[in-house]
Amino acid sequence: MENSPIQPDAIIAGECIGLLNALREPAADLIFADPPFNIGYKYDCYEDRKAYDEYFDWTSQWMRACAEKALKPAGSFWIAIGDEYAAEVRIIARRLGLNLRNWVIWHYTFGQATKLKFARSHAHLFYFTKDARKFTFNDTAVRMPSARQTTYADRRANPAGKLPDDVWSFSRVCGTFNERVDWHPCQMPEKVLERIIKVSSSDGDVVLDPFSGSGTTCCTAARLKRRYIGIEISENYVECSRQRLADTLAGRRPTTDISENPEALRHKRAVGKKSESDPNIRVRKSHTESDAATC
Ligand SMILES: C[S@@+](CC[C@H](N)C(=O)[O-])C[C@H]1O[C@@H](n2cnc3c(N)ncnc32)[C@H](O)[C@@H]1O
Repeated sequence: MENSPIQPDAIIAGECIGLLNALREPAADLIFADPPFNIGYKYDCYEDRKAYDEYFDWTSQWMRACAEKALKPAGSFWIAIGDEYAAEVRIIARRLGLNLRNWVIWHYTFGQATKLKFARSHAHLFYFTKDARKFTFNDTAVRMPSARQTTYADRRANPAGKLPDDVWSFSRVCGTFNERVDWHPCQMPEKVLERIIKVSSSDGDVVLDPFSGSGTTCCTAARLKRRYIGIEISENYVECSRQRLADTLAGRRPTTDISENPEALRHKRAVGKKSESDPNIRVRKSHTESDAATC
């Protein structure tokens, strides 16, 4: 990667397809991609409403650049996408020869109310690997208490807990969360990234996000002692997310995982058993989902 514009531990301003195609050797142990879903979100310099064929071709191009130029032979490739293009992502991945390990549904517990049809409360998280046999899967890092442990007091329960199923329930990052930045319209929860990064990479591995946005992947990767590369087309988002990253690295920003956050732990101890309140949630006086993109 010498002389490459893509070096670890940086959020880079630029267009991901060109940058990734210029790589001379694969850089990433793990790629997490959360592209614009082509549903009309308001980004500051990307038009999120393209004709079907244009979006399909563009998706094929960035997926190819990720799979063939950026991903190491034993690497993992996660893609977040909405219902509108989930089938297309699966087909493109098949054409690229990627190995599907899981088609995870992220069920979010904070959605929009509807009157004429059932409310959308999920997104798709595709989990591919380049190689069907060689990949990182740190099962112990993501185990959780099983029902045998929590509900049935079953002595046969594995004391290490169980692996999560392929439906994940995490709240979206709503306006009242400390985690929420108000200069980007569409922010992944750090908890989703935490699980993906913990299971699909190890300390010191390189995690790449070609659509870095508010910098969630880079911040979470850095907090988990991974190296990170973010690519983002908007210079404004790059500047703001570099500040978010600096705050994360300096411990100035509460994270979602209070066990790793001294400030939140202090708060929890202070309120003791009197309060069940989540220290990661604050109440804002006003909030709009698409606040102006200034930071
Ligand atoms: C869905 S958002 C990513 C959100 C991110 N996962 C987060 O948690 O903040 C998609 C991002 O891709 C950026 N983008 C669009 N086209 C791009 C391209 N060709 N190269 C790099 N970034 C691009 C947009 O500006 C937007 O910030």
